[in-house]
Amino acid sequence: MNSYLFFLGQNSLLSQAELTSLIPEAKLTTPHQSIVKLDSPTSLDLPSLGCRLGGTVKIAVLKQTSSAKQLQDDLVKLLLDQQAKNFSLNLLDATNQESYELSNEVKQRLVDNQLRTRFIAPTSTGISPVIITKQKAVELTIDSDFNIYQTTWVHSFKSWINRDRRKPFVTPKSGMLPPKLARIMVNLAVGDKDPGGLTLLDPFCGTGTILMEAALQGIKVIGSDLSADKVAGTKTNLDWLDENQACAPLKPATVFQANATNLKDQLVDQIDLIVTEPTLGPASPSQDKLSDIAHGLQKLYLGALKHWALFLKPQARVVIALPIFHGQDRSYTTADFIDARENLGYNTLRNDLIFTRPGAQIERQIVVLEKQ
Ligand SMILES: C[S@@+](CC[C@H](N)C(=O)[O-])C[C@H]1O[C@@H](n2cnc3c(N)ncnc32)[C@H](O)[C@@H]1O
Repeated sequence: MNSYLFFLGQNSLLSQAELTSLIPEAKLTTPHQSIVKLDSPTSLDLPSLGCRLGGTVKIAVLKQTSSAKQLQDDLVKLLLDQQAKNFSLNLLDATNQESYELSNEVKQRLVDNQLRTRFIAPTSTGISPVIITKQKAVELTIDSDFNIYQTTWVHSFKSWINRDRRKPFVTPKSGMLPPKLARIMVNLAVGDKDPGGLTLLDPFCGTGTILMEAALQGIKVIGSDLSADKVAGTKTNLDWLDENQACAPLKPATVFQANATNLKDQLVDQIDLIVTEPTLGPASPSQDKLSDIAHGLQKLYLGALKHWALFLKPQARVVIALPIFHGQDRSYTTADFIDARENLGYNTLRNDLIFTRPGAQIERQIVVLEKQ
């Protein structure tokens, strides 16, 4: 059995769902709120798996299993073997003080062995990918069974920031998904299939965030939007992605103007997946209008789902981010119509995933559907 620790991003439930979707055979346990231990019968190709994930920031591999008595000796040997100039020890089951004392003792023994070294104090999830990369730090994580894991992969923070902040076409007022959430949604749809053989549609594509995250995985992407400006902007963003971010040329994308409830006739390709964040209604809605807005949106979403059922392949997945509006007295969800309607043509695989930010008035419920 091969064991790994996955250090999750801000929303650990979504990040775990992404892992389960991509590696359904893996056994997951949670030694810490933001860390998942993954046991796999086969060894994982971490660089290629890591690059696909939106919800994981670091991955550590089991190096050896130690014991309370042997731990200090084993850590010293591991760090000496690697001539670690910077190191960090993250004890999942210890207090900060215990961690600090062990790090100090280990450092002293390394110095006694002629290694000029420095330890970096961790937070509860270790040290950041930026520090690991920039300071070439060796990070070791020790769990309650004295398993010692070494961080061997960290996410490419620069390219995530670039895609979040530097794409040429943005529309802050009508809302854009964070790229990491878009990537997680794509992975919830792809599952354990080969992304290179799939075609994905985003019928409310906006600035193209979802299409960009899918295209980077070799998926053929199709986008549409009611607004001609958004169609042009999505094309601009996909061209920018191709020139600035992609390791290999992206597959040619198709983007056109259409109403999401009536686009079938403009499709040439078969659609394997729909991943989308539909319109959330007017920006800054007034409290007394929330109920009507939620009701109106449900009608649009219902019409769209019925229309999509006409051209999706059987077992095709739809991953859709539906708003939950928080009013002063109550909240209005917009996803409940799906399970209330019989004969809609979809099975609900998940509806328990919520994306939220502190103080947010609108949350997103990520619903995963499968065409019957
Ligand atoms: C919340 S935005 C999508 C944002 C996108 N996920 C992004 O990250 O840029 C919703 C989009 O739906 C479009 N829209 C609104 N009503 C539509 C309809 N009936 N059919 C298709 N697109 C529609 C809007 O123009 C807007 O671009």
